[in-house]
Amino acid sequence: MFDSTGFDGHESVTWINDPATGLRAVVALHSTALGPAAGGCRLWQYEDAAAALTDALRLSRGMSMKNAMAGLPFGGGKAVILGPLPDERRAAAFVAFGRAVEELGGRYVTAEDVGVGTADMAAVARATRHVSGLPPEGGGGLGDPSPFTARGVLRAIEVVARRALNRGDLDGVRVAVQGLGQVGGALARLLAEAGARLIVADRDPDRTARLAAATGARAVGAEEILSVKADILAPCALGGVITEERAARLDVGAVVGAANNQLATPAAGAVLRERGIVYAPDYVVNAGGILAVAADYLGGRTREDVIAQVDAIGPRLAELLARAEAEGADPAATADRLATARIAAAGQRRAERAPA
Ligand code: NAI
Repeated sequence: MFDSTGFDGHESVTWINDPATGLRAVVALHSTALGPAAGGCRLWQYEDAAAALTDALRLSRGMSMKNAMAGLPFGGGKAVILGPLPDERRAAAFVAFGRAVEELGGRYVTAEDVGVGTADMAAVARATRHVSGLPPEGGGGLGDPSPFTARGVLRAIEVVARRALNRGDLDGVRVAVQGLGQVGGALARLLAEAGARLIVADRDPDRTARLAAATGARAVGAEEILSVKADILAPCALGGVITEERAARLDVGAVVGAANNQLATPAAGAVLRERGIVYAPDYVVNAGGILAVAADYLGGRTREDVIAQVDAIGPRLAELLARAEAEGADPAATADRLATARIAAAGQRRAERAPA
């Protein structure tokens, strides 16, 4: 793990192999300084195990940053399951995954991520209580976190439209949405309701066509969406889309989306800044889902409480963008610095409490 791409002082990495169900997974715990490492479980077909490890390392670090910036009492972790999982073994594999989570003794709290749904989390819950994002019908609470994520992204887009485009509302603002899954699809609908002019693309052309028909959006191909002219680009597919080269060519005023790890490298953030393109740090923008998941796990919070927390993403982002501007830094670097300082301070307090 120490020499792997994406390693950033992570506390631990656990490899899981369960031949009975075919489950192969990695759980990366970046930090538990602020509390149990919370972060979803992704099911994806990776090129090889090294690629899965890199993804888990990067995503878990992002969760540390996200939870710290959202003011949650959680550290950062992430699980990735190496797909595919055949349907007939899926439920058993998720129960096996739950057993592995249980063995971590509460240091990791899981939930859904790309490729994983509430039914999978219900299977996980048969083996551990360190799980959230359960179906509401099982008494699990708020259910699928995606609508909360989409709402938070909308709030962030409103803030950026105000700051960067000098727009009081989203009427007529051109937003290009890449990826129309659980979050991107919900976001596109919210944007359409707010009067935005949408350009949309998904890797799945049928999904693109359906969404375009429902929202009046202009549909483009998946390979075209990153080169369209728009006010705002909302990456809502997978991470790493903004490479330095792409940042140098984007024809948009701002990038504000749900995807985790949108910047392929920190240098891509610097290129955006040089070009005057506002970048709203992904983990500040997309915290709505973890806020819902955390509320379920911690208990005692109503849907209204969570909605208020999600809406607070707007003012938090506005403050961050103002701070970055005052510092002459790119917002991603400023967010990283703030989050890292919070985690380091919590780690220091924990070290001071520990018996000598
Ligand atoms: P999803 O799997 O429901 O949707 C992803 C969509 O992107 C799919 O429709 C897929 O076909 C499409 N896609 C994949 N590659 C593409 C490409 N190259 N071009 C165009 N479309 C492409 O996933 P979900 O839940 O909507 O998440 C989207 C992103 O937001 C992910 O990066 C995820 O990590 C992040 N995120 C999601 C949260 C949630 O609450 N679901 C919370 C925080 C972050």
